[in-house]
Amino acid sequence: MKKQNDVYILGIETSCDETAASVVLNGRQVLSNIISSQIDIHKKFGGVVPEIASRNHIKVISQVVDEALESANITLRDIDGIAVTYAPGLEGALLVGLNYAKSLAFAYGIKLIGVNHLEGHIFANFLENFDLEPPFITAIVSGGHTNLVHVIDYGKYEILGSTKDDAIGEAYDKIARVLGLEYPGGPKIDELSKIGNENSISFPIVMLEKNSLDFSYSGLKSAVLNYINSCNMKGISFKKEDVAASFQKSAVSVLLKKSQLAMEKLNCTTLVLAGGVSANSYLRNEMIKLSNENNFRLFFPKPIFCTDNGAMIASCGYYKYLIGKFDGIDLNGKANLKLGES
Ligand code: KG4
Ligand code: ZN
Repeated sequence: MKKQNDVYILGIETSCDETAASVVLNGRQVLSNIISSQIDIHKKFGGVVPEIASRNHIKVISQVVDEALESANITLRDIDGIAVTYAPGLEGALLVGLNYAKSLAFAYGIKLIGVNHLEGHIFANFLENFDLEPPFITAIVSGGHTNLVHVIDYGKYEILGSTKDDAIGEAYDKIARVLGLEYPGGPKIDELSKIGNENSISFPIVMLEKNSLDFSYSGLKSAVLNYINSCNMKGISFKKEDVAASFQKSAVSVLLKKSQLAMEKLNCTTLVLAGGVSANSYLRNEMIKLSNENNFRLFFPKPIFCTDNGAMIASCGYYKYLIGKFDGIDLNGKANLKLGES
């Protein structure tokens, strides 16, 4: 039975290779979380093929949304808002979820709420967690983005730094590919590194200008690829696990240093991790150490909420619902939108 102030949001996410839908109660309580991953389809191409991603979203979206409603034991009549990722991401993929959400909202007279995917990743931290409130600093680390963001309040952001070239997840995936590991490479490097020696190869730690909170991962990526190529050319054998662990040490230590700098600059005490790479076990452990040493409160999402899902979109949608930030039926997909832009 629906209580008077309860708000049920259906979240829909199709920005890349996951077709996902979820029902979230009052922004934090996850009632269902259905994710149909296309990893097995894209694996053979070594990465996501946009056209194939769109076609597969079309195939499964209605079933995924139905399952999310069914397993939450709710019908569309009781849904207060439909939150959907409209940016950034693969244009064709975004349009599938967006048009599905628009059709449902129109047909059932439900409020439509467009959500920025990156904003969604931040809100993954509110899922099943009733302790976290803004302000805080978040490191968004995913396949497409590396950002340090000051979350001043719900929906109010100040970008402190971003990547000048490759995203951290992109570097993980590329290096994994060259090491012969399957897509997506991040989790594979995570596992392999556990048996490797992180001090065996010294890869660059790219900090850019003094006190800069921006990132650059292309130099590190090239250094690792050059190391592998040159070993192969000279016929020198190397241990994949040592390359993986040494790469990971460099990639993560930049993130640790810049997160600490951002926390000090803004005199902030709450640090939050978000995005697919925040599922990484080495990153989590190192961030725990950093937080203990500096007395930061540290939050990261449950692993299932780190990578793309509909629940984080629903959570973000809930806070927009509370302030009446709704969208019209003319809402369009925006492949390249940044956080804080509309
Ligand atoms: O957030 P996400 O699902 O999609 C984007 O918005 O980009 O992130 C996907 C990225 C991929 O690059 C994947 O390799 C990486 O997150 N990833 C990981 C781990 N799990 C996922 N990287 C390192 N370690 C992991 N355990
Ligand atoms: Zn994502």
